[in-house]
Amino acid sequence: MLYTKGEKWTWNDVFQEYSEASLKLYSYQDERGKYQLVSVDNPGGGGYRYSLGMGEKMPANGFRMPKETALKWLEEGVLVVEKGKVPRRKQYIGEGVRCRDIWTDISGSVQKNYPTQKPEALLERIIKASSNEGDLVLDCFCGSSTTAAVAEKLNRRWIACDLGRFAIHTTRKRLLGIPNVKPFVVQNLGKYERHAWLQAEFDNPESRIALEKSYRKFICDLYHANPLEGYLWLHGVKAGRMIHVGSVEAPVTLEDVKQTIIEFWRMVGKETTIQHNGIDFLGWEFAFEINERLNNSPKPTKWM
Ligand SMILES: C[S@@+](CC[C@H](N)C(=O)[O-])C[C@H]1O[C@@H](n2cnc3c(N)ncnc32)[C@H](O)[C@@H]1O
Repeated sequence: MLYTKGEKWTWNDVFQEYSEASLKLYSYQDERGKYQLVSVDNPGGGGYRYSLGMGEKMPANGFRMPKETALKWLEEGVLVVEKGKVPRRKQYIGEGVRCRDIWTDISGSVQKNYPTQKPEALLERIIKASSNEGDLVLDCFCGSSTTAAVAEKLNRRWIACDLGRFAIHTTRKRLLGIPNVKPFVVQNLGKYERHAWLQAEFDNPESRIALEKSYRKFICDLYHANPLEGYLWLHGVKAGRMIHVGSVEAPVTLEDVKQTIIEFWRMVGKETTIQHNGIDFLGWEFAFEINERLNNSPKPTKWM
């Protein structure tokens, strides 16, 4: 680490070196060196309001410095004032606070694999500032796993978690795309947790059938559906729609869907009292081929 416990540190200590992204900001140069132009607007509003008499535009929140300071900066040649524009101050490399708690030197635009994807440069800074090579980096809400990807590239070990299947898929693809990525495993803990929940909540050593019935009734209650007796594949009914409740331990398969539909049509032939609008399939997981079929289907059934 860059500091030891109890030792005082500042962001300046942490970021001894300018990142490549930071250096790019210093795109101007004069006889004193490279500089960037920074705002003189007062961030919180209520700044000083005055005119420098050079046709400049007033910053939206007023100036952050009093007029005397502005005049002094003008004399020193560090305040840039142009007609019709808000003045800005020259900030040379090595001046000012290198890294504040608001980071504006890292671009938010990234090539997106995921809606909330973060820039790698951001995670690079955080990981470098808070870990060493070989350390373990954990991101419990990984999304597309910018954290894991950067940790991998910086020779850290990593654990990435997400409840979304798309996030896990994106993560796996992204990590596999890193040259010489070290071996990693993808673990689905949800299934084991569901199994434990099933045993704890509905355990019935005498009858597996009774256990499954209680479980399906519980899911129907959650879905505000009325449980349906006497059918194998149809487990409930809600507002004219039939309900199939997928198993806790296995994904809903295409065969399950077919059998449910067959039973549905048989029922429609028999029953005339209920208006049947279709079937809702409630599942913890769906087999991959269902997704394929769904994508090719013009009018899909509603998927939960
Ligand atoms: C803002 S995104 C993370 C984006 C990520 N930093 C990146 O660069 O792609 C938050 C993620 O947290 C996940 N999430 C939300 N609640 C969660 C929970 N209780 N457990 C695990 N993941 C969760 C969401 O599925 C989402 O992918």
